[in-house]
Formats: sequence, structure tokens, C-alpha cells
Amino acid sequence: MRFSTIGGAQLLALAACFFPSCIAAGVYDRPSTFIPGRYIVEFEDENTSSHTFFSTLSDHAIGATPIITLDYSLFKGASFNLHDAGNEKANVEKIRSLPSVKSVQAVRSYPIPKTSGHASNQFPPLSAAAAQGSLDTAPDKFSTHVMTGVDKLHADGVLGDGYKIAVVDTGIDYNHPALGGCFGEGCKVAFGKDLVGDAYTGTNTPVPDDDPMDCDGHGTHVAGIIAADSAAPRFTGVAPNATLGIYRVFGCAGSSGDDVLIQAFMMAHEAGADIITASIGSISGWSESPWAVAVSRIVEAGVPCTLAVGNDGENGLFIASEASTGLGVTSVASIDNVITPLLFKNASWSADNGTAKPFGWIPYIPADIPNGTYPVFDILQGNNDTTITCNNNFTIPKIPGKIALVPWVGGCTVGAGLAELVAAAESKYIIYYYDNPATPIIVNGSGYGIDSFGTVSSDVASQWTKLLATGTQVYLNMITPSEESYYTVSPANTVTGGYLSYFSSWGPTFEAEVKPQIAAPGGSILSTYPLRLGGYKIDTGTSMATPFVAGSIALILEARGKLDPATINNLLSATAEAKTFNDGLSTYNYLAPVAQQGGGLVNVYDAVHAVGLLNISSISFNDTEHFIKSVSFEIKNTGKESITYNLGYVSTGTAYTLPSDGSTVPAVFAPGASNLDIVPSSAKLSLSSDSVTIKAGESVTVEVKATPPTDLIASRIPVYGGYITLNSTTESLTLPYLGVAANLKDTVIFDSKDNMTYVSRYFNISGVPDNFAFTLPPQNSTDEEIVKYDFPVPVAIDSFGTRILRVDLVPASANSTVKTTEVLGEQIVGSLDSFPQYEQGRGPWHSFWYGNLSDGSYAPAGDYNILFRALKIFGDEHSSDDYEVVKSVNFSLTYASPNTTTTSTRRSTSFEA
Ligand SMILES: *[C@@H]1O[C@H](CO)[C@@H](O)[C@H](O)[C@H]1NC(C)=O
Ligand SMILES: *[C@@H]1O[C@H](CO)[C@@H](O)[C@H](O)[C@H]1NC(C)=O
Ligand SMILES: *[C@@H]1O[C@H](CO)[C@@H](O)[C@H](O)[C@H]1NC(C)=O
Ligand SMILES: *[C@@H]1O[C@H](CO)[C@@H](O)[C@H](O)[C@H]1NC(C)=O
Ligand SMILES: *[C@@H]1O[C@H](CO)[C@@H](O)[C@H](O)[C@H]1NC(C)=O
Ligand SMILES: *[C@@H]1O[C@H](CO)[C@@H](O)[C@H](O)[C@H]1NC(C)=O
Ligand SMILES: *[C@@H]1O[C@H](CO)[C@@H](O)[C@H](O)[C@H]1NC(C)=O
Repeated sequence: MRFSTIGGAQLLALAACFFPSCIAAGVYDRPSTFIPGRYIVEFEDENTSSHTFFSTLSDHAIGATPIITLDYSLFKGASFNLHDAGNEKANVEKIRSLPSVKSVQAVRSYPIPKTSGHASNQFPPLSAAAAQGSLDTAPDKFSTHVMTGVDKLHADGVLGDGYKIAVVDTGIDYNHPALGGCFGEGCKVAFGKDLVGDAYTGTNTPVPDDDPMDCDGHGTHVAGIIAADSAAPRFTGVAPNATLGIYRVFGCAGSSGDDVLIQAFMMAHEAGADIITASIGSISGWSESPWAVAVSRIVEAGVPCTLAVGNDGENGLFIASEASTGLGVTSVASIDNVITPLLFKNASWSADNGTAKPFGWIPYIPADIPNGTYPVFDILQGNNDTTITCNNNFTIPKIPGKIALVPWVGGCTVGAGLAELVAAAESKYIIYYYDNPATPIIVNGSGYGIDSFGTVSSDVASQWTKLLATGTQVYLNMITPSEESYYTVSPANTVTGGYLSYFSSWGPTFEAEVKPQIAAPGGSILSTYPLRLGGYKIDTGTSMATPFVAGSIALILEARGKLDPATINNLLSATAEAKTFNDGLSTYNYLAPVAQQGGGLVNVYDAVHAVGLLNISSISFNDTEHFIKSVSFEIKNTGKESITYNLGYVSTGTAYTLPSDGSTVPAVFAPGASNLDIVPSSAKLSLSSDSVTIKAGESVTVEVKATPPTDLIASRIPVYGGYITLNSTTESLTLPYLGVAANLKDTVIFDSKDNMTYVSRYFNISGVPDNFAFTLPPQNSTDEEIVKYDFPVPVAIDSFGTRILRVDLVPASANSTVKTTEVLGEQIVGSLDSFPQYEQGRGPWHSFWYGNLSDGSYAPAGDYNILFRALKIFGDEHSSDDYEVVKSVNFSLTYASPNTTTTSTRRSTSFEA
């Protein structure tokens, strides 16, 4: 249930949109995108400063505007904008060849995390008997703390005292009383910076300042999960005595570049943070992208970093977000809260102005309804068939001054249309109720002529509709939401509570590294919110699970003393509770795959008290081609007495990455609409001993040999897994393992079955027919000029990730006189501008093309094909055989002369970069 709002989101536009329909509509989350013209370099050595670097650039006549100086112990470099767009690729190659430069990469952008779009799918029916209370619970009975043993550590006085946790996010409303009420030394939010300024969009130049106030709300929610500490109302985070740092990397809207993200992590590291956390990411699956590498470096230097695995669970396996993909980085999955807290505002209602009865409602944005008594109008007018609202021909009379009561109907396009209908009927207020508990409600936005949106439970709404149907008037006594505090209602989530959230992204990486590492409560989480936006909010996402683990690490460090990040991951994973599989609707009698939950639900109390310490956090047996036959691990007894563990293992289900219909696009995993098959086949493990006895302070080594399951369909890329169990009379430890029962190199990257790799044109997303004639805009046209032309747009759905994506122009005929060079066995005219691309996650992409090539030249007029080439997983980039190749139809290119314009109109607006 998307029972939360996100600033600036479009009204109702996000109603459930599932793969692959989203692809057709062009709204599928794209893999990381690049900020035009912006690059980040890392210097080769200590002696290069950004000053000397930029003067070297001017010596080489390369025009560049410096953006960020990165002068940190673990990263020396700079980001900049290149001026000469026409020679961009050539200039980048020049920069790459400078002796002072270690690497140069295009800066990727990361959107402000979407949380509300991924709220828990279930809305337990609210009954009058539902527990109603305030935010107060003392001692610590917060459901998420009880789920994870945090309550017991709090009772023992472990509160994270003295630990510094740096948050990289949208800022923090440090004026919030639960977050200390101030910013700076001596405050709870003690250090940090705004690295970008309010006006930063992700593509313009950041303007840093010293005030990391939160503009959006996300960072304030994250901060409260870690370290809120409020007596009245009583609300605490996981580590209420920890100190927070905040590195603000987003403006009030838009995205952030990885130059800014790398800077934020490096600054947090140099400020002495004990833990760094970021609930930010974009679809990746690769451990080597620049931000992931920078975070791995900080982990390597001894500071644990927690990052969200992502909210793309609906898209199946192999979709973990960067930078959680980084080696050593603690990648965090989400588990649904066992309760679904709801924040209500008080109001009352009466029939024919009789006795007033209280009811709760949830205001959205905007919610400007003045104090007063309002009659209710049922827009169904007594009809109990809510689906009639799905038709455009639906009409209602004028209802000025009344509140319109509107059913939220799943599966039809309610929303904007109904809001306009109500506005046209002269009402300014809408109260929704859900007709089907499994339907998300997103009510948020302005520009529809509605002053106030809100929701009531269907129980309350049906009392009103029944009375209205008998001719009784129903009046609502409303209080302006900003003048009324919230109260919570916390019904149990009996459907998904305590299980993996369906939206939580699945691993492993494309190279079979285990991701995520651990799971924590992230579905339906109450936490602090900026005071101007209400002070508290319930939000959902791996964004909420990640800070929970950051706070948990502070408790572990406080209780156990200094530990390196690898040991922390080993402890978290060994003591976590592996959960059984839940598909968003039902729970099954087998464990959820390691690719979905890593070690399972964090148990911080057990991590603090574990006596046995493993030296690894998980095992990957890799794929069939690189199968690792034998792995050893060590158990150390850190206790004062000898301990005996019985060793065994338990398999999870094996998940098929691809659906059974022969498609090369990974299966989807959405409640009620899943084609992701999980089967019982499992690997057989043999352990070198059934039982080990370890003296105090000593270690023993155990060898594990695996035999992968053989009764699986390799072409569907099965991912098997399980847990090695170590049981003693006093504790039980687990070691997750997984493997891929297929040769990953055989994986199909382009969605060839559906012919989803082709050349389309700007005015039409469909593929062009053979011998299509393109008229390109005159060379070096302005943006305004360019959009008048029907230029080529290469399009593809990548079913799987690729390390190198080439899109090259080749002559259609062997007799062509156009100059070519041989690249990987093919005569090419050049690469299309913006190609090759590196470390691509899976999903659709498209690229507008005006005839310009990556070396800055323009392709001559002539007859061509476009050659799409993707390096296979584990392929050798220098071997043409290791690329998957798709050749487009023939087409011709001519350039319009500067003064002619075409009169075509643009037919597709959903198809833009
Ligand atoms: C936690 O912080 C409070 C307020 O600063 C302090 O009174 C208390 O002693 C601290 N508790 C622990 C266990 O450090
Ligand atoms: C109920 O109260 C409203 C507002 O005070 C008033 O306009 C309306 O006439 C009353 N209706 C009845 C049935 O008494
Ligand atoms: C609206 O009602 C609330 C609660 O009774 C009250 O505190 C507030 O002052 C009222 N606002 C106005 C503008 O009358
Ligand atoms: C809807 O109305 C019809 C006719 O009055 C009635 O038979 C039916 O039971 C009603 N359905 C519900 C769900 O109330
Ligand atoms: C409205 O449209 C629906 C679906 O097209 C149709 O079944 C229904 O008869 C229409 N109603 C009116 C009043 O036109
Ligand atoms: C799998 O094997 C390949 C090739 O040796 C290697 O690059 C990759 O890191 C391995 N993955 C894991 C998880 O060991
Ligand atoms: C260890 O305990 C778990 C959980 O009770 C159980 O599933 C597993 O079979 C046990 N393993 C051994 C070797 O006894």
C-alpha cells in the first residue's frame, strides 16, 4: 500500500505499472544515466593537484570547467565539464593518456530515492478494535526493535553512545526535537555539509554551503531510524545515543552525480565516521562502477558502509543497485514490519447532525481543508458497483462546498480523471477509500483544482455510503491537518509481516557475487520527518532498512569493541534469521533464496553475543563454467569455554531467473503477477566434519564441497542456495551460500526473442522498415532545431547486463567507399556518439542520434546498418566471439540543409532521453 507521499510527485500517475507494460510506456527505471559532458578523473599519484591537472588540460587545449575537487586520502581527483562537445570522446582519450591520470569516467546520475512508490502491498482491514495509541511506547516496544533484538540491547543500556554515523542523503531537519533540535558540535546532528545547495538538479553545478537542512524529507526519515531520541512523544531509533553526520547530496529535486556521492563518502570518512550509510542507488549488478569502487575502498580502510540493495524486486534476479554492489559493502534488503502503523488525523462525523463520532483520516498533499463542517457526496450516488468510475462517461452534479467520497478502484485509471471530474463539479475536497486492500493509493499533487486529498478506511466509508443511500445527510467535522497532531493505529500485518518485502531487489551480481548481505525492517516504518511536513511519517523501502543496519552496527561496535567491516558482515550474516519465502500474498514452507535475503533478518542481540566467529559472510560457488568445487571457512571460539557445533545445511528454493515461456527477459516478481518460478531442486553439500569442538580462543577449519543440482533447465539460469548451519547448545550460526547452475557466458543479453534491439525513429518508437531513409538535422543544430527532424533512435531491452555495450555504424554494402576501421572483426565507420557504454545494468535504453560519431565527426551521407554488440558475462573484451551481435535493417542517411525545415509533427512524447 503506498500510504505515503513524496514531494513533487505527479498526482496519481504512478498507479501500478508492471514490467513489461512499463517498457512500452517508457517509464521503466533506467540503468544509470550519464550527465552530459561531465567526467571524473582520479589522479595517478599524490603529486598531482587539481590545479596542475587543469593547467595540463589547458596546455593540451582541452577546455574544461572544474566542478568538484576531490582531495582525499583515498581519492585524489576532480570532476569537470568538457566544453567542446564535438570533440568530447577525443578529448577524453587525450585525458586518459595523461601520465598523471589513473582513470577517467563519465559521471553517472542517481535519482532521489523513491520510497513511497514501494510501500507494503497489503493494507490490513482496519476494525474498530484495532489498537489505537499514540507514538508512546516505553520501555522500547517498537515492533522493528523487537523483531531484531534491538529492544534487548536497549534494556541492557547499549544505545550507540559515542559512535559517529554519517548519512549521505537529502539532508536532515536537525530542528526536529527527536533529532536534537540543532546542528553542529555538541548537537545530535554534529557534523556534515550541504555539498550541492537547493538548486542542484544533478546536471548543473553544485553550490555547497554549510547548512544541510533537508528539503525533501527522505534524509530526516533515515536519520530518525538510526538515532531519533524523543521522550514525548516517545520515539527512538536503533542507536539513540549515536552522533549523526549528514552529507547532503541532493538539491530540492532531481538527481545527484557520482562525483558528489564519492565526495560525500570521502568527506564522511575523513570526518572520522565509524559507519557510513546511504539509501541511494540505481540498477546496476556490477561491482566495478566508480562509486561502488570508491565505497569499497573506504570499507577496505576499515569503515563499514551500508547501502540499499534497491527497490526493484518486481524485476526479478540480477538487479542489485550500485553502490551496494561494491565488494565488501554491506548491501541491505528489506523485510516488512510485523505491524502496519498508520498515522491518522482526528476528525468526526455525524448523521443528520446527530451525535458526533470520531474517525481517522490520512491527509495527502495538498491537504488544505479549513476547519468546518462539510456534507459528504458519494460520487457513486448509491450505486455499489465501484467499477463504473473506470469509465470516462461518468458524470456527477455540481457539489460546491461538499467533500466528494471517491472509491479507489484497482486495475482502472482512476486518479487524475476523477480529480478533474470532482473539480469540474465545483468541489475542492476529495476523500478516497480503497475498494480492494491490495490496491496502492497514491494521492499527491497539485494543478487539478483540488485543495485537499485524503483517505479513510473502507469500513468508515461504507457506513457513510449506506446512510447516504437512504437519504440521510452525512457531515464531516474537519480540522485543518496542519493544526492537528497525528495518532497511530497499528494493526498486525498478517500477510507479509516479518517476511522479505516483495519490492526488495534481488542479487546476485552478474559475476555471481552474493548480494544482498543482510535484511532489516524496511516495509511500513514510522520515523521522523521534517517539522514543516508533519514531523513523523510512515515510509517504505530498502531506504528504511539500510539505516537500521547502520544503527545496528553502532550497537555491535559499542558492545564488542572495534571490529573491521568484514568481521561485522560475518557476524551480521552468521546470526541473522533466514526467513521463509513469501510472494507478497502467501508464505511458503521453504526458505527464501539467498539471492533475495542474504543472511536473512538481522538479529543484533545475537550478533553482539555470538561466541563463534566465522571468517567469511557467505559462499558463492560461481557458475558452472567457473564452478568452485571446494571452499574452506574458519570458526573461531571467542568464548571462555570450549564449544561444540553440529554442522549441517539446509537448502532454499532454487529460483529460475528466466520465466518458463522461453523469454530471455528475467521473470517478474510482483504480488499476484509473478512468473518467477522457485523449485525445490538443490545442491548437495559435503562438509569435512559433522561436528566440531573448539577450545576457548582456538579456531577450526571446515571444508565445503558442493555438487550443483543437475535436474534444472540451465537455459533459464537457475540460482540455487542455502545455509550451512552450525548448531551448539547455546547458539546457532548460519553461513549462506549460492551458485548459478548455468554458464553465465551463455546468457542472452539482447532481448532477441522479442526482437527488442532495433533502430526506431524520433517520431515513432516502432522499428523502421528495411531501407528507411532518414533526413537528419543539419550538423551542429540547436536543440530546438533538432526536434523538428525524425532522426534515428537505437533502442534495446538488455535482458542481462553487459560490461561493454557498443553501438557502431557500418556500411550497408561491401562496395561502400566510406572510410572504415576494423574493430573486433567488423569494418565500422565509427561508434555512435555516447557509445561504447560500460557496466550496463539490465533494462531498456534508447539513444537519440543526429549522425555524430564518438570521435566528434559526422557520418557521411550514405547507406548503413547499426551494429549492436554486447560483451558477454565473463567475456574477453578483445575477442569478437565474446560479443553478442545484432545488426539493424538497412537505412540511408542524408542531412537537411540548414534552412529547410520539415513540417512533420511529433507523434510520441513518451519516448525521450
Ligand atoms: C544516552 O544519552 C543520554 C542523554 O545524553 C544520557 O543521559 C545517557 O546517560 C546516555 N546513555 C548511555 C547508556 O550512554
Ligand atoms: C447540519 O449542519 C449544517 C452545518 O451547520 C447545516 O448547514 C445543515 O443544515 C444541518 N443539517 C441538518 C439536517 O440539520
Ligand atoms: C482549527 O481547529 C483546531 C482544533 O480545534 C484549532 O486548534 C485551530 O485553532 C482552528 N483553526 C482555526 C483557523 O480556527
Ligand atoms: C449491490 O447492490 C445489489 C443490488 O442492490 C445487491 O444485490 C448486492 O448485494 C450489492 N453488493 C454489495 C457488495 O453490497
Ligand atoms: C459508459 O461506458 C461503459 C463502458 O464503455 C458502458 O458499458 C456504459 O453503458 C456507458 N454508460 C453510459 C451511461 O453511457
Ligand atoms: C567467478 O569466476 C570469474 C572468472 O574466474 C571471476 O571473475 C568471478 O569473480 C567469480 N565470481 C565469484 C563470485 O567468485
Ligand atoms: C540446526 O538448527 C536448525 C534450526 O533449528 C535446523 O534447521 C538444522 O537442521 C540444525 N542443524 C543441525 C546440523 O542440527
